[in-house]
Parts: sequence; structure tokens; C-alpha cells
Amino acid sequence: MRGIVAVFANMSLAIDESSILGQGFYGRVYHGALDSECVAAKKALNGASVTEESRLLELCDHRNVVKYRGLLETGHHNEYFLVMELAQGGTLKDHLGANLFSFNEKRLLLQQICSGLEHIHSRNILHRDIKAENLLFRDLHRRHVLIADFGGAEMYQENVRKINTHDVVQDHEYTFKSDVFLLGLVTYQTFEDLQHVDRLTLAGRVLRRHRKTPIADPGIYTARIWRTIIQSLDWRSERRPTASEFNEAFADAAA
Ligand SMILES: Nc1ncnc2c1ncn2[C@@H]1O[C@H](COP(=O)(O)OP(=O)(O)OP(=O)(O)O)[C@@H](O)[C@H]1O
Ligand SMILES: [Mg+2]
Repeated sequence: MRGIVAVFANMSLAIDESSILGQGFYGRVYHGALDSECVAAKKALNGASVTEESRLLELCDHRNVVKYRGLLETGHHNEYFLVMELAQGGTLKDHLGANLFSFNEKRLLLQQICSGLEHIHSRNILHRDIKAENLLFRDLHRRHVLIADFGGAEMYQENVRKINTHDVVQDHEYTFKSDVFLLGLVTYQTFEDLQHVDRLTLAGRVLRRHRKTPIADPGIYTARIWRTIIQSLDWRSERRPTASEFNEAFADAAA
């Protein structure tokens, strides 16, 4: 086993670099232990850094956002590990496509994702990467979701206009409503139980389906959830609901 052992916030931190929990383009996440608690430790890849991610995650404290434990600097060539709560149940993406969740379970999962995003937005943070690979199950019961991966997140600055370079959201400027667009896509993906989706064309597909199907006949959805998905995918970002309004659509499945 290749590992790192360090004293961290007066606790003993061990990172097992032979036990990889997952990997994306910008980071690899290892299994670790902080005293007796199992944790996850993320190291940056491909020129990325976990220091800004760590700063933003530290600002959040919510049951549906992965908990920050600290930032470890190992002393080797600017090597940092972002230490966080371990999510034991895999990603939402891993569990789509197998008909594992009932309508009500999906509704409750989406409600938690909305609550987590509402909290992130209340901290003035744009997540920028809401997708099924970044939504993790806290444990093997898979009833509790955590929003993870703040690698692309940034603070929202009201008077700073930046050209949006997001690969999926086409908004002129990236705002909280752009996160809501991504929330709309993952909501549709979850309800349709699709493991693989082309997110670039998904919004168009949903809106075409909407034109053919009247709102009074929303299929597997409630009229309110279907209407909220459609609104969240509106190309005019100001017409989209906030994360908190989106949340309300799931509160009452009968509405
Ligand atoms: N706290 C955690 N507990 C368990 N597994 C995790 C945790 N955080 C991340 N992972 C796993 O590691 C994978 C990669 O982590 P993360 O999404 O943070 O990296 P990334 O490289 O920034 O991803 P992306 O390519 O989406 O930008 C996740 O998809 C997940 O499988
Ligand atoms: Mg990721």
C-alpha cells in the first residue's frame, strides 16, 4: 500500500493511495481515515488545484452537500489533498438505468438535491457542474444524496460580466439560473432512469416532447414537476425557477 500519514487538525490522517474511490478529469479521490472516521481525499490532476475547491466547500454546511474536513498540504511539490466526508453509496449515475427507484424515491432524492443547491446558492456560490456523476449517495441505503465536486465552482460576482464558456449551458452569462438549467437536465435524467445522456441535446429533446404533449397529460410526472422541468430548461434564463422554487415542485407530489 502506498499511503500518506499525517497529523491533521490534531488528528491522525491516513490516505490509502492504492484505494481509489473515483476519478474525473480534474481529480482522483482516495479512501482515507481521519482518526476513526472514514473519509475521502481528493488530489488534483491535469494541472487543476483543489485549494479553491476547498475554500468554497468550506463555506457550505448542509446535509445534502458533502462535508468539508480540511485541506492537507503534504510538503511534496505543492501536493494538496482535499479531505471530505466519505460517500459510501456510489454516484447517482452508477445507479440509473436499472429501475432501482420508485417515483416517490426519485422525488425525495431530487428534493434533497434542490435543498443542497439552494444552500450553495445562499452562500453565493455557483456550482457549475451539477450532473449525475457529481451527486453521491451517503451510504448503501441510497436514500441520502450529497452534492460533490466543487472543482468548477466559483463565487458569483454580481457586477462582473464574464463570457460563459460552459460546455452544456448556452447562457450568455453563467448565473444561478444556469445551475438550475443543469438541475432540470438531471431531474429529467433521473425520472426517465437514463444512465447515459447527451446533455447537449437533451434540453431540445425534452422541449420537443413538451410541444407534442399537453401539460395536462404529463405521463409519469405530476403536472407541477413536468412544468418545473420545462421552465428550468427555458433558454431565457430569467424565466427559470430558482433552486428553492424548483424544490417546492417536489414537496407535494399530488399538486
Ligand atoms: N466524498 C466522496 N466520497 C466518495 N467518492 C467520491 C467523493 N468525492 C468524489 N468521489 C468519487 O470520485 C469521482 C471524481 O470526483 P470529482 O467529481 O470530485 O472529480 P473531478 O475530476 O473534479 O470530476 P469531473 O471530471 O466531473 O470534473 C466522483 O465521481 C466519485 O465517484
Ligand atoms: Mg466530477
